[in-house]
Amino acid sequence: MRTPLVAGNWKLNKTVAEARQLVTDMLPGLRAVNGVEKLLCPPYTALTTVAGLLEGSDVALGAQNLYWETEGAFTGEISAPMLAEFCQYVIIGHSERRAYFGETDETVNRKVKVALAHGLTPIVCVGETLEENEAGRAAEVVSRQVRDGLVDCSVITGNDLVIAYEPVWAIGTGRAATAEGANLLIRNVIRPTLVGLFGDEVTQRVRVQYGGSVKPDNAAEFFRQPEIDGALVGGASLKADAFVGIVEAAAS
Ligand code: PGA
Repeated sequence: MRTPLVAGNWKLNKTVAEARQLVTDMLPGLRAVNGVEKLLCPPYTALTTVAGLLEGSDVALGAQNLYWETEGAFTGEISAPMLAEFCQYVIIGHSERRAYFGETDETVNRKVKVALAHGLTPIVCVGETLEENEAGRAAEVVSRQVRDGLVDCSVITGNDLVIAYEPVWAIGTGRAATAEGANLLIRNVIRPTLVGLFGDEVTQRVRVQYGGSVKPDNAAEFFRQPEIDGALVGGASLKADAFVGIVEAAAS
């Protein structure tokens, strides 16, 4: 079966010195847990430092974004080959990037293609807003995000792709989706859309995380769901005890 992946998305938090401290505090706890894949996604500036601290451990490293061009005159951007020196994963299309930085399904699609081409595993974020949810449009919105974000992408095994289902109204609000509701949406919307793109066998291996206000005390509920293969954790990944607690919940 699929190994759960628990990822910490640090967002715009932690200087290099603070990152060093946080990783030092959480690494022993993370290393003690087996049967779960663990991943840290610090800001770009801390990637090399965190890569050094994680060397020789079973904790993976990821970035929070990338640009679809691989080199050239694109001031301020970071490319897939630059990240591939340190990272195994990259988060793409997080709802904050869609809301504040103009990302669309089309830019997500370009970024997923370049990530795959350079051996990075994309974590593609999808999820409906509160307004869309209340209008009964969650299924339509999420299936479009999956389809248009991933169309024509060369996903080969299914291990090379992760989806994070993050209802926008649950991110950073303390108001998590119900575990059963998230499970149903993954089963009835995300997986069938993936099957349409990549076929059954590949889809079986794609991990689908839940994200949005995951904490140590609600994590187990999500991980009990058959369709939820781990979590993308924001706020609680900034505290060593909380993040280790969530990783432990994924193991049991
Ligand atoms: P949160 O963020 O855990 O703080 O709700 C999740 C995310 O944005 O990935």
